[in-house]
Amino acid sequence: MDLYLDAKTAVVTGASQGIGRAIAKQLAAEGVTVFATARNRELLDSLKQEITRAGGKQPLLFTQDLAAAAGSEQIAAAAQEQLGQVDILVNNAGKSNPLHPLAPEADWQQSMVLDFYRVRQLTEALLPHFMERKEGVILNLCSGYELKNLNASAVAKAAVVSWSKALASELGPAGIRVNCLQPGLIDTDNIRPFFPGRERQLFAEREIPLGDFGSPEDMANMAAFLVSPRARYMTGTVAVVDGGLRRYPF
Ligand SMILES: NC(=O)c1ccc[n+]([C@@H]2O[C@H](COP(=O)([O-])OP(=O)(O)OC[C@H]3O[C@@H](n4cnc5c(N)ncnc54)[C@H](OP(=O)(O)O)[C@@H]3O)[C@@H](O)[C@H]2O)c1
Repeated sequence: MDLYLDAKTAVVTGASQGIGRAIAKQLAAEGVTVFATARNRELLDSLKQEITRAGGKQPLLFTQDLAAAAGSEQIAAAAQEQLGQVDILVNNAGKSNPLHPLAPEADWQQSMVLDFYRVRQLTEALLPHFMERKEGVILNLCSGYELKNLNASAVAKAAVVSWSKALASELGPAGIRVNCLQPGLIDTDNIRPFFPGRERQLFAEREIPLGDFGSPEDMANMAAFLVSPRARYMTGTVAVVDGGLRRYPF
């Protein structure tokens, strides 16, 4: 299926590894010029090599700590300067942050800043550009939010979902779509430390109807569809890619 993404441009945060890297690769393969940003320059360089080797569209790289005070403004300014026009924003950067119920304030702040405030601020920095053109697509990576254990990132991502839904309804008339993409358990560095040894397999057999963790490419396939014109009638939704992990009590 042609996703009609050829010649589009996209900003992808957290593109150095995991889900963001897979999204950057998938979009580049579809002919998108990707503005790939993260902190780890070596990984971004290797992403560029990988994309080039696979015959994808050459990405632009930008090394930036998103959590830094002006992190989102720096990314938005550089992306607009280097891409000219920005068609798509994928807010993917984030970090799992399991916390004790009485964790210090600073630990909560860390997740709220990276996983919610910077997502909102980067979006807001690009919004005038989208609004002027009456066109733009925003995809926010979120997370499961009904978790057994406290995780500050999941709490921040719940805010992302609530904000995204309201934003979608505000911006629909301006031609701008906003959606969320919710992973279940995807095999990345973010998750691996929590399931050492055989625990991943045992957990997957017990809890995931499709029997294993997902891959970053499973997420990238859905991401590419959601940001494409093929999803033109989708906004304000949360697409779940989780092998059936999310279940209801009845
Ligand atoms: N994997 C899962 O099962 C899962 C489940 C629920 C939600 N998620 C969400 O999905 C998204 C991607 O997760 P992932 O599993 O792919 O994680 P990952 O493999 O750990 O990758 C996270 C990405 O975010 C970037 N990042 C982290 N902190 C940053 C900072 N301060 N400034 C700039 N970039 C930063 C990292 O790049 P650098 O280190 O190079 O900066 C990296 O590229 C996250 O938002 C995560 O919360 C994932």
